Amino acid sequence: MNGASTPELAAAVSNAGGLGSFAAALLPPSAILEGVQKIRSLTSKPFNVNLFILDTPNPDHSEIIRTQSLLAPFRTSLNLGPASMPEKFCENFQLQLEALLKAAPPVVSFTFGILGKDVVSQFKRAGCRVIGTATTVAEAVAWEEVGADFICAQGSEAGGHRGTFIGDFEQSCIGLMALIPQMTAAVSIPVIAAGGMMDGRGIVSSLVLGAQAAQLGTAFLSCPECPIPLAWKKSLLLAKDDSTRLTRTFTGRCARGIVNEFMEQMRPYENEVPPYPIQNALTGPIRQAAGKLDRSEFISLWAGQGVGMSRQMTASELVQTLAAEIKSTMSNMLQR
Ligand SMILES: Cc1cc2nc3c(=O)[nH]c(=O)nc-3n(C[C@H](O)[C@H](O)[C@H](O)COP(=O)(O)O)c2cc1C
Repeated sequence: MNGASTPELAAAVSNAGGLGSFAAALLPPSAILEGVQKIRSLTSKPFNVNLFILDTPNPDHSEIIRTQSLLAPFRTSLNLGPASMPEKFCENFQLQLEALLKAAPPVVSFTFGILGKDVVSQFKRAGCRVIGTATTVAEAVAWEEVGADFICAQGSEAGGHRGTFIGDFEQSCIGLMALIPQMTAAVSIPVIAAGGMMDGRGIVSSLVLGAQAAQLGTAFLSCPECPIPLAWKKSLLLAKDDSTRLTRTFTGRCARGIVNEFMEQMRPYENEVPPYPIQNALTGPIRQAAGKLDRSEFISLWAGQGVGMSRQMTASELVQTLAAEIKSTMSNMLQR
């Protein structure tokens, strides 16, 4: 989880029996290598490293100037000076890919796009298992065709960015309950369910529907090891079932977060802001400053629809609690 990920958190999850994930999408190649080395020093268990699949951005100067004027009131509110042109919009994806291949973690996962067959084969030859994120059956089939080992089925409940890369975002917002059985019927590789699961009951329901594993993000945001601003943590604990919404306004890519002032004020411009990663770079200074000042109204408070079930415990306790809940849910079901 970008902005919410450290080698320590990933290693803690792996050491407790889960598959810890390290978000590398915003990191330069050298930091990817260092992050993987650090995780290896903290755990001997398997772990995953995740990247966004991105094309080289093609910024439109006039669009940027217009967006910066829309964002100016937020900068003023945070005592930031006038915006300047970002030095870069994102890391070079090809160089990130090379670093990841060199680091060769046990598992690699990708979202926002799809890799070519040759690149998937390179990772497999390097000893990595490859996970491709899919929000529809067509995307899952495409990942299976290029040789992925697993599909991460991202339901519309999920916190953070949508991984959609074929077709339109709105039509690809499929609830996990409908997505898993249709996806598992269409592909022969294992499906990992993601979205809205916060406890053992949710995980068991995904397994019953045909998933082989579950991926939880929001549930780990409340762990003390998770390095998000305090204001975000407080918002998680206050949030309810209807506190989140999908928005493009923070980054230019559809993502689910807790509704706040930034999302409300930018709502009229949902479809006008530039695409990811351009909008992400333009709002970056606002979100960072707001994070430092604990101003939740301007932070991208990514969270899934299960956020109202957030619990405060360490990552290790959470993995152990989830495992115990899975066992008790299954035995309760058999006794009914
Ligand atoms: C704060 C946050 C950051 C995320 N960052 C990433 C990311 O960098 N890469 C990715 O593939 N998915 C990312 N996701 C999505 C998760 O992989 C997963 O789909 C989602 O957390 C599952 O839904 P849940 O949040 O309801 O558990 C993120 C989710 C959150 C909440």
